[in-house]
Amino acid sequence: MTPKFTPLKDHDTPIKVLFTGYLCTVGIGYLFALIQILFTHGMADGKFGLSVDDIVYSYYGNRSGTVLEQKLNGSMKENAPEQERFKIMEWVRAGADVNDYKDDGIKKIIETRCVMCHNKEASSLPDFSEFEGLKAYTTQDTGATFASLTRISHIHLFGISFIFMFVGLIFSFAETSTTQYKCIAVGMPYAFLVADIMSWWLTKIDPVFAWLVIFAGMGMGISFLFMWVTSILEMWLYKPVFMNGFGSRYLTWRDSADESVADRMWLFIKTVVSQLKPTAIILKEFVLKYAVPLMKDLFKK
Ligand code: HEC
Repeated sequence: MTPKFTPLKDHDTPIKVLFTGYLCTVGIGYLFALIQILFTHGMADGKFGLSVDDIVYSYYGNRSGTVLEQKLNGSMKENAPEQERFKIMEWVRAGADVNDYKDDGIKKIIETRCVMCHNKEASSLPDFSEFEGLKAYTTQDTGATFASLTRISHIHLFGISFIFMFVGLIFSFAETSTTQYKCIAVGMPYAFLVADIMSWWLTKIDPVFAWLVIFAGMGMGISFLFMWVTSILEMWLYKPVFMNGFGSRYLTWRDSADESVADRMWLFIKTVVSQLKPTAIILKEFVLKYAVPLMKDLFKK
């Protein structure tokens, strides 16, 4: 069967260079994003490496203490020696009083250890040069605020969907995956992106959803890696990998008539989609019959 598109390997070299340049840059961007996650979220529980606790602390908060304490035990640990961090924490536990702030020497510690980063010029960091700026962080740690979640949600939805637009577009010229696998690989990141963003909000409400954050993040990473590696291999190493190398076995497997995982997933997706309309009709009837009168009642009260 001849495909309806130009396979990656047959594209002109300038196009391949363009695609490769984009993929490599985005790949490096992805690595930096992972490093950033390791250093901010990964340090939330004070230990290096990402854990479920980190996710819970970042979004739901560590409700047994204040933000300032968590940060001093977490990602800000390296910024002040043990005794000074201890002094700040003692002051926070004692009620973070404005008079004690100067008298206990907390102001001096903050000014020498923290203000070089946390000042008026640093637009994305809280300003600790004034007492009020610090005071806000001496209340119970309830994780990310709704304001910050809204901000990062829209940035991620816009930004990441663009990345997957182009990675998916390049990958859609691949010829070594079946149409089903390609549809799944191209569509998966979007489903996981939405699940990821939703899971932040859900984790903010209930910490059990921290697992969903990790699951969705991994799903996005796996589809990215799959599309990235397949595209690069097809463009530059088609012959050694897919004709002479291990990829040839992969091709035989792809072309075998047996039902693959993708076929079964495909069938599942088709069944789900075909059920959407009847479900929508039932839902609509339900809403009109029960929910609308209920809402009207509530508003009257
Ligand atoms: C080298 C620069 C630097 C220094 C020094 C520094 N911080 Fe930070 N701080 C950051 C950055 C970057 C972030 C945001 C990333 C994060 O949350 O880990 C941050 C975040 C924070 C937050 C959380 C802010 C928020 O909106 O959730 C607190 C609280 C904090 N720092 C306290 C301190 C204290 C207290 C000190 C002094 C002991 C200090 N920082 C020293 C760079 C610094």
